[in-house]
Amino acid sequence: MFSYFYYITRSLFRKAKIRDRIPLNMKLQVLSENLQETEKIASFFVKYIIDCPARGRKKGLVISLEGDLGAGKTEFVKGIGKALQVKENIFSPTYLLMKSFPLQNSCFQFLWHLDCYRLEKEEEAKVLDLEELFSDPANLIFVEWGDKIKNLLPSSCWTIHFLIKKENTRLIIFEIP
Ligand SMILES: Nc1ncnc2c1ncn2[C@@H]1O[C@H](COP(=O)(O)OP(=O)(O)OP(=O)(O)O)[C@@H](O)[C@H]1O
Ligand SMILES: [Mg+2]
Repeated sequence: MFSYFYYITRSLFRKAKIRDRIPLNMKLQVLSENLQETEKIASFFVKYIIDCPARGRKKGLVISLEGDLGAGKTEFVKGIGKALQVKENIFSPTYLLMKSFPLQNSCFQFLWHLDCYRLEKEEEAKVLDLEELFSDPANLIFVEWGDKIKNLLPSSCWTIHFLIKKENTRLIIFEIP
């Protein structure tokens, strides 16, 4: 059962990788039964985007993370950081708003973690110079509460929804345009 879960998740992201090169609408759902599974899902997810050749990518990859408080957005980014061997501790940059982590051995040079929870209006995000951040192909950017700055996100933005099903169960829905 456990390995079947990994098999399915991994093959879903293999498709995602193909999808990254040949744009098609894709929506996939994975059920996480605990924190460790969310971490594993994050690692499969990032493995298949990180190996993608930078060739063809003219902008940063922006991924909006959406879902209620405590749904698992930050834990997912922690899993991404772990998979990318980020040494620094990743925590929710709620007060910091954004933080970057240098990456080794990947087509991206920086992992960015943004948290828009505190923003009351989209305009407040203008000081962050997001356009420049999003336009640089060296950047892999995860935006918690990205729905709060919907109009500032690029149309190519990927979205991951986190739904709380039970105490430790989360439905994670990936939307890849
Ligand atoms: N399957 C699961 N996946 C992820 N987190 C889980 C899971 N089961 C339980 N949890 C718990 O849910 C919480 C998720 O917290 P997290 O900070 O990631 O949420 P968040 O979506 O970032 O919330 P916020 O909007 O406040 O930033 C953690 O305390 C974690 O231990
Ligand atoms: Mg968070």
